[in-house]
Amino acid sequence: MQLTLDTTRTLNNGIKIPLLGFGTYKLAQGKETQEAVLAALKLGYRHIDTATIYLNEADVGNAIKNSGIPRKEIFLTTKLWNDDHDDPAKALQESLRKFGTDYVDLYLMHWPVTGKRLQTWKVMEQLYQQKKCRAIGVCNFTIRHLKELLGSAKVIPAVNQVEFSPFWYRKELRELCEANGIQLEGWSPLGRGRKLEDERLLKLAKKYQKKPAQLLLRWALQHEIVTIPKSSHAERIRENMQIFDFAITSADMKMMDSWNEDYRTGTLDPEGIP
Ligand SMILES: NC(=O)c1ccc[n+]([C@@H]2O[C@H](COP(=O)([O-])OP(=O)(O)OC[C@H]3O[C@@H](n4cnc5c(N)ncnc54)[C@H](OP(=O)(O)O)[C@@H]3O)[C@@H](O)[C@H]2O)c1
Repeated sequence: MQLTLDTTRTLNNGIKIPLLGFGTYKLAQGKETQEAVLAALKLGYRHIDTATIYLNEADVGNAIKNSGIPRKEIFLTTKLWNDDHDDPAKALQESLRKFGTDYVDLYLMHWPVTGKRLQTWKVMEQLYQQKKCRAIGVCNFTIRHLKELLGSAKVIPAVNQVEFSPFWYRKELRELCEANGIQLEGWSPLGRGRKLEDERLLKLAKKYQKKPAQLLLRWALQHEIVTIPKSSHAERIRENMQIFDFAITSADMKMMDSWNEDYRTGTLDPEGIP
């Protein structure tokens, strides 16, 4: 399949998510978020990933407004923070107020909070029925968390957003998601920039005459994993979307798959969440 910036994946409820999105974690409140998101939208990204805990929803909303791009042409994701499980409806309403919009495209549970996640999912199902979000999903769910949720969910999560890169290639989780119609989304696709000097990656980047970051993002796309790189620099925001003019051979894809070393950038190990 020919991949382009417009390539989407169809979620299990029929809605379409652009395969490439723009991440906003650690973009500072105010100017930095507004400029980066506006730059991404002007360059052609149509999918923005944020979260309540990033404290930049209002700035993302501003950038969307200032871009002049109709709201319905942008896929907007935000996430329910761990402290808000007691009232997800209120939390989502507050996010919508900050964005200045009346729906998000995807509402994700940010972490599988022990003792709360199943009840919270029921409320998220209601928010979905009320059309406050076009799809609902989860983040950081391991195989164990997903199986538990699938045991009681009326609405199957549309997405599981987890840390995913060749350095943490979670094959079994990916297969479980695929078998249940759950789209995998990979966060920290660049290993937060910490794996860009990996010798094997540098060698491959040289072979394709591409940047290491571009190889990592292309690898995710060819696996049909939604990928959401973040950058605060306009040139990198551009570089990270210049990944549609080459293809990694299947032999090199297999080689990259074999780079797994369970490398985690996140401080919280989801496997440790009871
Ligand atoms: N659901 C979750 O729990 C969760 C957790 C973490 C992240 N996320 C989402 O996933 C998104 C992406 O993950 P992430 O932000 O952790 O990490 P990432 O996208 O893997 O890496 C971002 C880092 O790489 C640098 N970078 C970006 N493009 C580059 C390039 N072309 N060349 C060299 N360096 C480059 C950035 O620096 P500059 O900004 O200085 O350019 C930044 O330091 C987040 O922004 C967020 O939306 C979700």
